Amino acid sequence: MALVRKKVIYELKGVVSAGKESRVYWGKGFDGEDLAVKIYLTSSAEFRKGIIKYIRGDIRFDSYVPKSSKKLMALWARKEYKNYCLLARAGVSVPQPIAQHQNILVMEFIGESGVRAPLLKEVELSLSDYEGLFYAILEDIRRAYLKAKLVHGDLSEYNVMVWQCRHYIIDVSQAVRNDHPNAHDFLMRDLRNIHKYFTKELGLNIPPVNKLFEYVVGNVDNI
Ligand SMILES: Nc1ncnc2c1ncn2[C@@H]1O[C@H](COP(=O)(O)OP(=O)(O)OP(=O)(O)O)[C@@H](O)[C@H]1O
Ligand SMILES: [Mg+2]
Repeated sequence: MALVRKKVIYELKGVVSAGKESRVYWGKGFDGEDLAVKIYLTSSAEFRKGIIKYIRGDIRFDSYVPKSSKKLMALWARKEYKNYCLLARAGVSVPQPIAQHQNILVMEFIGESGVRAPLLKEVELSLSDYEGLFYAILEDIRRAYLKAKLVHGDLSEYNVMVWQCRHYIIDVSQAVRNDHPNAHDFLMRDLRNIHKYFTKELGLNIPPVNKLFEYVVGNVDNI
């Protein structure tokens, strides 16, 4: 495969996660480094319907949505790779993107010896560590909006990994530019998800969602 020829992937070791539309593998690079390799599988009609709104309305991609499933999955992998690059460049804590070819995305592996780091949903921390984590994630949502000009669009306790006292925001294929017609709705939904998890599930006392929104979009400088 091209990514082997290009000396990006030396070998694939095991499956980290098998979703309906994509599979994430633990791989090794040519220098023995761990890699996460996300491979998009063929798309179902349902998946196609679900993702169209994240492609249309994003000026980086014209409104043309490929008919062929293969092309659509390659577009989706390219979108995720580009989003990862923009976020990483803006200083948002994400796995470092490494390469993309067709429907395959290669990035830094978060975890150790092929065992992925836990998701935010799966960790158990002290209340004060959770509080620190919440504000670190909020800063990243703001950095994403103001610097990378992106809104995640599917943020929740399932799309944040926690590793060595640091969080990593993942799963950014659906992220859209902040001038997308639905960007503010997506941002409100992201903030509501995160707010709900930290308040209802973890019992943290944090400002209401509308205040978080004003802070993230830069209308106020403090929270
Ligand atoms: N860089 C990475 N390092 C280690 N594990 C990762 C990495 N990226 C993703 N994973 C693991 O793979 C899972 C699925 O990845 P991701 O959330 O990007 O895909 P998805 O399309 O949402 O799939 P799913 O529907 O299974 O959540 C994550 O929940 C995480 O456990
Ligand atoms: Mg996910």
